[in-house]
Amino acid sequence: MTKTAPFIKQLTVIILTIILLLPLNACTTATATNIAPSDIIYQQRTVHNPDGTGKFYMGREIARVMGYEGASWLERPSRGMEEKSARLVNNLDLKPTDIVADIGAGTGYFSFRIAPLVPEGKVFAVDLQPEMINFIELNKQEKNIANVEPVLGSIDNPNLPENSVDLVVMVDAYHEFAYPREMMQGIVKALKPGGRTVSIEYRGENPMIPIKGLHKMTQQQVKKEMAAVGLVWKETKDMLPQQHLMVFEKQSQI
Ligand SMILES: C[S@@+](CC[C@H](N)C(=O)[O-])C[C@H]1O[C@@H](n2cnc3c(N)ncnc32)[C@H](O)[C@@H]1O
Repeated sequence: MTKTAPFIKQLTVIILTIILLLPLNACTTATATNIAPSDIIYQQRTVHNPDGTGKFYMGREIARVMGYEGASWLERPSRGMEEKSARLVNNLDLKPTDIVADIGAGTGYFSFRIAPLVPEGKVFAVDLQPEMINFIELNKQEKNIANVEPVLGSIDNPNLPENSVDLVVMVDAYHEFAYPREMMQGIVKALKPGGRTVSIEYRGENPMIPIKGLHKMTQQQVKKEMAAVGLVWKETKDMLPQQHLMVFEKQSQI
């Protein structure tokens, strides 16, 4: 009894230790394998800008999506003068046969201005909010413009056919994408080889532009994020009063 007692005690300690460690080990493995790629690409922070989502991508906080309640602001009569919308469209270097995708189209403000310049092509007007798609449908009937096709996108996918688009336009929209990496990968897939993406964002370098900070972007940040999906910067046109118009190209080998 006195000889076996310490041995039994030792054995009990070893068995108990193994039992305690087993689930701990299993748990650690599960945590490691459960890390989705998006957890590495994005970071969620509790301290953040109240206009933002608390989700960060490549050092930038992603802005909140502008709700469909703001549709009338997108269509405000003063917009053309303030933002020089006609100048923007004329600088897209469109060809009559171009297939264009206006991503984050909202009410279709730009889709319907682009459509007459691509009479043998068309404009996919992509938005995430079904209410915006309804506005686009209504505008399409009212303006009687046949070559605008509304497309309901999803949070991480523009839902466009592969290799189908000559030009992607994103006006004041990209900074709101909740999954910018996945959206841009979908956009790159949708572009034809040699196709172009034009990013138009309020200038983040200029504090005098009266737009909330997260709704502006610097050229440096846009270039970094487009390079992450293989797009090559071609030029920046600075002829708009408040925004950069930045042109990127899909290389044939992507
Ligand atoms: C500020 S509005 C700009 C609308 C339009 N480009 C214009 O300038 O009139 C941004 C739009 O992007 C849309 N949006 C945000 N994230 C999106 C996503 N992942 N896919 C498609 N649309 C998105 C929003 O629903 C909203 O209509």
